[in-house]
Amino acid sequence: MIYLDNAATSFPKPKTVVEAVVRQMETIGGNPGRSEHQGGLAASRIMYDTRQKLARLLGIEDPLRVIFTLNATEALNLAIKGALKPGDHVITTSMEHNSVLRPLETLKKQSIETSLLKADKTGLVSLSDVRQALQPNTKMLVITHCSNVTGSIQPVEEMVKLAREHQLLSLVDASQSTGSIPYHIEKMNPDLLAAPGHKALLGPQGTGFLYMKPGVVLQELKQGGTGSESENLQQPLTVPDRYESGTQNAHGLAGLKAGIEFLLKETVEAVREHEKKHILQLKEGLSSIKGIRLYGPESIDQQGSVILFAIRDLDQTQLNYMLDQLYGVSARAGLHCAPLAHQTIGTFPVGAIRFSPGYFTTKEEIDQALSAVNQLASDF
Ligand SMILES: Cc1ncc(COP(=O)(O)O)c(C=O)c1O
Repeated sequence: MIYLDNAATSFPKPKTVVEAVVRQMETIGGNPGRSEHQGGLAASRIMYDTRQKLARLLGIEDPLRVIFTLNATEALNLAIKGALKPGDHVITTSMEHNSVLRPLETLKKQSIETSLLKADKTGLVSLSDVRQALQPNTKMLVITHCSNVTGSIQPVEEMVKLAREHQLLSLVDASQSTGSIPYHIEKMNPDLLAAPGHKALLGPQGTGFLYMKPGVVLQELKQGGTGSESENLQQPLTVPDRYESGTQNAHGLAGLKAGIEFLLKETVEAVREHEKKHILQLKEGLSSIKGIRLYGPESIDQQGSVILFAIRDLDQTQLNYMLDQLYGVSARAGLHCAPLAHQTIGTFPVGAIRFSPGYFTTKEEIDQALSAVNQLASDF
């Protein structure tokens, strides 16, 4: 199998990730933050170590500002629903994933209004459009760092700066960049940043996080046991406990810790260089195949490890199925949970095919995937 669906979830995982999950399950009995016995303490330690290593990887000063979640969607919901109140206005973009668009759509019923900035045909949003959308009641700017449809990398640092100048909360959806495109949170300086652990951080599914800048307070979405202040019927206000109710995924976080350790050793810069080569090779190869339409930014510096294309006006989902069945190429077609992004670039409602190489993808695999697309395009 040639796996080119790392934008959905990374595969394969480093062996150390698998081993860490198994080791945790086999040898550690106990809930993190709950029990004073050895297993409970060991589970707590795993969570703390994972927080600390993630903080080191991403340039976060205080690891306690990392809130663990089930995935990026849960982190985005917490950030959006925890920050906004009736009467607020939000600025976001047409390149967002449904995990941003759907919570905002739901909040319309509570009189929370959204302005959607339309990106250009290559998926890039302009800073001046953000400026123009500002209103007296604008509370938040939500922006994806790297599009899961076109791979477009937004000028997120400038956008966050603009938001700060206008006292807006900035929320960055870093689902496609975390672990794949180097960034430093304290330099980017967002109020909130959400990402999954199961994509380029190489951890297991069921892991994700929300970073909250010191001073930012959100309404928690869940109340329950935290293992702290148990005498109090009110939800504790300390971070991260306020936002982490219920037994945490210590098994998954043990795996995430190993994924982060892998990246600390290899470096995200090396991952980016490796993936850039694949995207360049795909760009070159796909554009030389007759009948292929390519989407996304011109410059590789504005593109993450995602490339989108369509083969003539055929059924792209059917073609993608054939890529898998006939050539063993696993990719994703359709609308990629981002219908407005496809509307923006003109591929709605049919969608297109997305290849997303990862750190373990080889040049030979890209050669084979290109030859499979070439074959399909000439057969139809
Ligand atoms: C840009 C973007 N945001 C959010 C998500 C949601 O991530 P998760 O599946 O971890 O909730 C994805 C997943 O593909 C994504 O690509």
